[in-house]
Amino acid sequence: IYDDSDKASLYVAQEISKLIVLRQQQNKNVVLGLATGSTPTKVYDFLVKFHKEGLSFKNVITFNLDEYYPMEPDSIHSYVRFMNEHLFDHIDVDKKNIHIPDGTVNKDNIREFCDNYEKKIVEAGGIDIQILGIGRTGHIGFNEPGSSITSKTRIIRLDRVTRLDAASDFFGEENVPTKAITMGVGTIMNARKVILMAWGEGKANIIKESVEGKIKESIPATFLQEHPNCDFILDQAAASSLT
Ligand code: F6R
Repeated sequence: IYDDSDKASLYVAQEISKLIVLRQQQNKNVVLGLATGSTPTKVYDFLVKFHKEGLSFKNVITFNLDEYYPMEPDSIHSYVRFMNEHLFDHIDVDKKNIHIPDGTVNKDNIREFCDNYEKKIVEAGGIDIQILGIGRTGHIGFNEPGSSITSKTRIIRLDRVTRLDAASDFFGEENVPTKAITMGVGTIMNARKVILMAWGEGKANIIKESVEGKIKESIPATFLQEHPNCDFILDQAAASSLT
């Protein structure tokens, strides 16, 4: 629990950069699982700062958690655009090492695309650090309530609460896509380290449920209690309901 999200984000960015440097010394790659939304933006700001100060991302391979479906990559709402603006356009990551679920894939080919996404993660050596935000429904990635602990990358229907939370970004709930492609809970559980971040009072209840509540499919973040190497990084407000 940190005083504020700035200090907490600095810690997370430092954890990531330490692993990048360690792997560079060993001549190895790092596989990062990345999230979008408001929560990780300061982490990305710090990573961009570290890059300006000399940190290279040449040995980094990235897999993003999710993308709305359907979604064109150049749309202002796309997670491709989000990632470019917040991180990828400002660092020296090799473009061929970036993976984001494709919001334009033909609906008959979604299954194949998702299976392939899983295969690429495995071929890259598995995710070293997966960063996560958390939705008010307890979703991680877009694994809404009802997602199983073994779920893999797939297309899902977004919860009403999630679409309401995204409504202002889309200038109205009716414009928020009803679906998304997301890594599964099982995909996330396979990461060697998971860092879930949450800021602000609005997340306090779901953080309490996720950390102290019973493990259940209706709150997918509770599955992280079973992960052997998972940290919840919180500011004071998000931690305020914990006992
Ligand atoms: C985003 C994602 C979502 C968000 C969650 C919280 O890639 O997978 O699970 O992390 O909806 O969103 P913010 O950070 O905007 O509160």
